[in-house]
Amino acid sequence: MEFQFPQGFVWGSATAALQIEGATREDGRGDSQWDVFCREHPERIWQQATPDLACDHYHRWAGDVALMKALGHTGYRLSIAWPRIIPDGTGAVNEAGVAFYRRLFAALIEAGIEPNVTLYHWDLPQPLARAGGWENPATMDAFLRYARVCFEAFGDQVKLWATFNEPSWSTLNGYVTALHPPLKHDYRAAVQVAYTLMVTHARTVALFHGLGGDGKIGIVQNMCPVYPATDSPRDAEAARIADAVYNRWFIDPALLGRFPEDAVELYRRNHILPEMRREDLDMVAADSVDFIGVNYYFPHYASADATETLFGLNTSGNRDEDCHFSIKGLFKFVRNPKGRYTDWAWEIYPPGLRDLLARAHRYRPGLPIYVTENGIGAQETLDADGTVDDQYRIDFVREHLEVIHGAIADGMNVRGYYMWALMDNFSWLNGYKKRYGFLFIDRETMRRVPKKSAFWYREVARRNGF
Ligand code: FCB
Repeated sequence: MEFQFPQGFVWGSATAALQIEGATREDGRGDSQWDVFCREHPERIWQQATPDLACDHYHRWAGDVALMKALGHTGYRLSIAWPRIIPDGTGAVNEAGVAFYRRLFAALIEAGIEPNVTLYHWDLPQPLARAGGWENPATMDAFLRYARVCFEAFGDQVKLWATFNEPSWSTLNGYVTALHPPLKHDYRAAVQVAYTLMVTHARTVALFHGLGGDGKIGIVQNMCPVYPATDSPRDAEAARIADAVYNRWFIDPALLGRFPEDAVELYRRNHILPEMRREDLDMVAADSVDFIGVNYYFPHYASADATETLFGLNTSGNRDEDCHFSIKGLFKFVRNPKGRYTDWAWEIYPPGLRDLLARAHRYRPGLPIYVTENGIGAQETLDADGTVDDQYRIDFVREHLEVIHGAIADGMNVRGYYMWALMDNFSWLNGYKKRYGFLFIDRETMRRVPKKSAFWYREVARRNGF
């Protein structure tokens, strides 16, 4: 069967600053909360890896752009490191940091690759983290200033912006499962932080539109579908509430302009609802994103059989990037016994992508959607012939592209696909264990080797289909 995509469909891949740049102490960059976390808790990261070198992209960006071009990319999703632009979070702008991204964006544009730029992919400047991070309202102001600096410095080059990467994942892992900084088990703080993030997002969108440029702005969400574990009504109810706290608390404000009533009720009953100020809610109601970015890896299954303590934690006993938690009497997440899983217990379920595209479409019919991350991690080494035969990645990407193709045929406005990731990179907690890239990175030499999937994708981009 022939899968032909609409003209102008973006064929790209994605990265994030902390995961690829390295050079964490060069040219005036400040520490982010992740640099400090890796230094202070080396035992939590596989093989005590750090992002200090990562993929050395800070020095090798020109070659990386040339590779993207050679591999037929027409788009590239990346993030700006806040601590490179404003090293201490609130003080002077670091011109060397601005210059780095200006060079990079210029090279991308020159190569015919459209940058899609996320302002915040979790690398909060450490001084802000120390002062309470997103629990401190001052962080919102600092972010708005940082966003303005970026819009003004790069607005002529960057036409696609996203405020936050996966606010749900960063909040729940930072404040509920305590796997990410600031390592808290504090559901009240989680709800507060999530609220602040979504208000900050709305304010940033308003700021951006107020500046009147010709770019577009959106947000990147991991809209992890939540299915009932069984067909019992109790599990259906568990899935509904799990979806409210996991997805809708983040998606509804961005796409519908309001926080979901059922989660508001739940948090109010448990006395953990933050103060919801009229002016905040007005901002959220006025939110008018130009597009939504969706990251999709795997779905969740909710069971009502949750006996852990209230807002108790069930991190599944592992230190993987597993956003698993439960709420007593309401839900817990369980495995799908019939599921097809990767070595990392991440289920491979392409129809889940269809469900979340359909949700975005239902919420805001016709709103442009980009699949901003989707991919598969594996432990990989170079073959005897010096390549990586990652047929499983080709299969994974193809199956998800087929779903996207179907969604477009059914009227959903999907504009592009960014495979996670352009290159193997530093994973939060897993260090360099899992590899996700089109480009294999030789950790000894930093040499980039395109995998079989990279050549397959080049062909897809060239034919605008497969
Ligand atoms: C997502 C993150 C991204 C990457 C993938 C594997 O949650 O946004 O940075 O680590 O997972």
